[in-house]
Amino acid sequence: MTTIDSSKTEDRSHLLVEKDQNKQTVTLPPKKVMASKLAAAAAAAKAAQAAAAEAEAAQAAQAQSQPVVETEKKSGESTKTDVSSTKRRLSSSVENPREKKISREKAPIVKPGKSITHSDRIVQAEISQYRPYFTETDADSPGQSAPTTKEKNLRVVLEYPGSIEPENFLLLKPVLKNTTGRSNEEEEEDKDEYNPITDLMRTCEFIYDCYLLPGEQQKLLGNQSHGIMRNLTKYRNRRSSAGFSQAVKDFNKVMRRLKAEGVISKNAKAMCHPNYDLACHILFQVYSRTVARQSDALNNYQAFSNNVYGEINPILVKDFISKTGVNSKSVFMDLGCGIGNVVLQVAAQTGCEAYGIEIMETPCKFAKRQLKEYAARMKAWRLPTGKIHFRHGDFLDVAANDLYATLKRSDVLLVNNYAFDAATNQALAQLFLDLKEGTRIISLKSFVPKHHKINQRTLNMPESILRVEEFEYYSEAVSWTNNGGHYYIATVDRGRLAPYFEEMYGH
Ligand SMILES: C[S@@+](CC[C@H](N)C(=O)[O-])C[C@H]1O[C@@H](n2cnc3c(N)ncnc32)[C@H](O)[C@@H]1O
Repeated sequence: MTTIDSSKTEDRSHLLVEKDQNKQTVTLPPKKVMASKLAAAAAAAKAAQAAAAEAEAAQAAQAQSQPVVETEKKSGESTKTDVSSTKRRLSSSVENPREKKISREKAPIVKPGKSITHSDRIVQAEISQYRPYFTETDADSPGQSAPTTKEKNLRVVLEYPGSIEPENFLLLKPVLKNTTGRSNEEEEEDKDEYNPITDLMRTCEFIYDCYLLPGEQQKLLGNQSHGIMRNLTKYRNRRSSAGFSQAVKDFNKVMRRLKAEGVISKNAKAMCHPNYDLACHILFQVYSRTVARQSDALNNYQAFSNNVYGEINPILVKDFISKTGVNSKSVFMDLGCGIGNVVLQVAAQTGCEAYGIEIMETPCKFAKRQLKEYAARMKAWRLPTGKIHFRHGDFLDVAANDLYATLKRSDVLLVNNYAFDAATNQALAQLFLDLKEGTRIISLKSFVPKHHKINQRTLNMPESILRVEEFEYYSEAVSWTNNGGHYYIATVDRGRLAPYFEEMYGH
């Protein structure tokens, strides 16, 4: 199990949903890192470092390099408001036997805040897909001449609210694979791919909106009409490298001052938990640095099995949180957590204790990888992580996975059982007999048949202790379809059995 708990110390892209023809799947383009690409990336990294030293030598020197792919001993081998656009994957089915192996290792406590994976590492790993966006001069007609070395290696660092090293950004734009190699003007920007400039801009906007109070504090950075915030947008639009780099430096200067004065930590404390939009941005940062490049690996599951992979999108998770009232004191569990997105979002938005269990090795490995990055990033954003645990194992074997006691004290369970077979849903329902009164179970298929009636014969069935409400979700809420649908929240309510027991046994 991988666990983090920073609750005691200080205080979670465009998921381009590309549907296949039968509207069952969402796919990301393959992101295989070839040895030659890595060599090219390493060379580019070297050159880029020289440019970085020129740009902001002192800060860049502090910044530590992080491998894009973290290794995990155990597993044996990871617009601002437009969250629907975070890149996500789904399924195309491949024959692959259901994994039965259960990992029982005692997982280490992951110390939060080790180090973030810097943005430039992601870009360097796919450097052949990136091209200069900025030009050296404040040109009216960029891209007319071949890019200079400086343009190719343009780098800035960005101060975060937390006491960590600034993040390195290599300021390039992603280009579509089928247009690479054409002339500069013909190479089309890949709107689905990680864009470091957009990430940086949104990060600045979130810092501005969430960590500075309107009035005197925000005035230091101006707004979209004047000052540093304006310059960021203006020089980004003009593609002026000098102007943009200076605007980022100015932004950092103000941030360092406000951090030194204790303003940022005070405002972060008052914020307590990130709002939905900020949580989504942080989770996008986490996903893009840990899973995005290898998301194709999530397509390895047996067709029409319980392991069909699909995700609930952040907008619906937000709905779950408000409907079930998860808060910092709650215990939340995702049975079949996949890569852990829901667990991380719920923990980020509420600070609750959150658990995920997943039977498939690859998604579980990604979940653990995301958790490490999440812990580091939440520290960078000066936010509490919540207490999070991921297990690799079978949710029907909760006891063997040390989760039985946790299940019994859970306040909210999520079971994305859209693709689960009837036997699995029935076995899950048996587990619910052990839940405490009032536990809420969110599911995509109801555990209680529509015409279920409580009577002497059904009195002892799990369905009889569940009071179910049906809700609607709308387009973009789940990754496997653009259409809306229904979800269910069942509440454990043994009180409804009282009249039947009274009838049978008197008082
Ligand atoms: C549709 S995905 C849901 C992922 C995530 N909960 C979400 O909603 O975004 C269902 C996941 O349940 C996992 N799963 C299926 N049977 C399981 C079992 N017996 N124990 C643990 N996980 C299981 C699958 O491997 C798959 O990753």
